[in-house]
Amino acid sequence: MMLKMHDINKVYQTDSVQTYALRDFSLEVNEGEFIAVTGPSGSGKTTFLNMAGLLETFTSGQYTLDGIDVGELSDNQRADLRNQKIGFIFQGFNLIPDLNIFENVEVPLRYRGVSSKERKRSVEACLEQVGLASRAKHLPQQLSGGQQQRVAIARALVGKPRFLLADEPTGNLDSLMARQVMELLEEINRNGSTIVMVTHDPDLARRVPRNIQVVDGQLADLTLYQGQPEIDSSCVVERPSEVGL
Ligand SMILES: Nc1ncnc2c1ncn2[C@@H]1O[C@H](COP(=O)(O)OP(=O)(O)O)[C@@H](O)[C@H]1O
Ligand SMILES: [Mg+2]
Repeated sequence: MMLKMHDINKVYQTDSVQTYALRDFSLEVNEGEFIAVTGPSGSGKTTFLNMAGLLETFTSGQYTLDGIDVGELSDNQRADLRNQKIGFIFQGFNLIPDLNIFENVEVPLRYRGVSSKERKRSVEACLEQVGLASRAKHLPQQLSGGQQQRVAIARALVGKPRFLLADEPTGNLDSLMARQVMELLEEINRNGSTIVMVTHDPDLARRVPRNIQVVDGQLADLTLYQGQPEIDSSCVVERPSEVGL
């Protein structure tokens, strides 16, 4: 089991208002799965993903990542675990503007204390994989949105994470580029990484073996609607994930 969340609650307290971003949220993700997460804006998708990626803590409940009880960890232990196991593709790329493309992709390996020779080999291989080997010396602002997204993917992959989390990785891309990014993620999944991807694009979600939906901080598992070819096209219209998108 890669991820196991049980009755997770996340409450944001602002002034006098309490927001339950996640409410009794339970989910199990097996090693090697590829999951698409859909749901209306503000439903808690990013909160869930940040929490899964150990970027955010939770108010109550239990989260076990690869057998490790995350709630028991100190901040430093959480950061170490994140470095070892997790790659994260952010909604807004989050590239560092003063670093060139090579250096941006190199960042996670520096955190891990990888030697400079090994860093060079890994970064070059990843840039090659996302088709940006010729842009290594460019700064992020010198690239198109699609290229920046591919840099963000290379940075997420460079440490060969067992668990890859992606928040709307195709959100800023045209449909051709979105398909290429999707093919890249599928290849990474075939190579053994577990992937959880938030997307608002029903066409992309449909390509993914398991779909889950977050509504009002709670989970609906749509897996039952998938893998039934005879009703697939008709039930797609009824899938609640496509209401309110
Ligand atoms: N830092 C925060 N402080 C207060 N409320 C927040 C914060 N982050 C998210 N929320 C609230 O939690 C809910 C879920 O947000 P989010 O996870 O970003 O949704 P989604 O990614 O599905 O659009 C929203 O109501 C949002 O306003
Ligand atoms: Mg979001």
